[in-house]
Amino acid sequence: MNITLLKFDSLTSTNTEAIEQAKRGADEGVCIVARQQTAGRGRHGRNWVSSKDSGLYFSIILRPKIETRFLPLITLAASIAVFDLLEFQYQLKPDIKWSNDVLVNERKMSGILAETTETKKGLAVIVGIGLNLNSSNLSGDLARTATSIYEEAGIKPDVDELLSSLTRFLKSVYEILQRPNGAEEIRDHWKIRSSYFEGKNVRVTQQGKGFDGITRGLEENGALRIETDSGKIQIIQTGDVDSIRNNNLRT
Ligand code: BTN
Repeated sequence: MNITLLKFDSLTSTNTEAIEQAKRGADEGVCIVARQQTAGRGRHGRNWVSSKDSGLYFSIILRPKIETRFLPLITLAASIAVFDLLEFQYQLKPDIKWSNDVLVNERKMSGILAETTETKKGLAVIVGIGLNLNSSNLSGDLARTATSIYEEAGIKPDVDELLSSLTRFLKSVYEILQRPNGAEEIRDHWKIRSSYFEGKNVRVTQQGKGFDGITRGLEENGALRIETDSGKIQIIQTGDVDSIRNNNLRT
């Protein structure tokens, strides 16, 4: 995959721009990056705060040659790339919260929004990554729950260097995913990086309803297995999974 960077000063959303470009036939590896987003999007229709130069706002077009059932593993693969970037480049100790959040010191530093779109060249997957560079501008709940590279590592990253490292890590996990045993390899890489893989007490929230349980590994497609109080395994394909502390001390 060859990386082609397209830089913008301001966009509504780099994912929206990447979807439009993919529909017009853009090649795999085209990356859209913006200094700010006026309508940055998160999962489940949420907003992604995207003030100018406070974060990396980036989307890459992929045209994966993998079985459709493994498409959800692309989000997991992207989170592995962000994890490795933060560990190797900034000596941080990240964690991956299923399915798409990269945390440092239990606060969110990065979120990933993967979206699929039909194009004349076949299905494209747009992987959008938001990575907080500076969190001093965040207010309210976000000030408590989010963090940034500057806050954790005391470094103001050079965005061009950051992008070239991130795209290198992304290329590498994407190559792994497309190997004959790639799905299994990606699950194994995720397993050693995420405290959410096994034995974590969590609350699952789906469409406003919640239940508690303990994580019990991943399904083949990256869905999370949760053991409930009654001992049944629930398979979580989508939704929010949050660590619960203090109460529920079973392991
Ligand atoms: C989430 O945690 O809910 C996912 C957040 C994804 C945010 C990124 S920023 C770049 C790209 N463009 C968007 O509009 N969203 C993603």
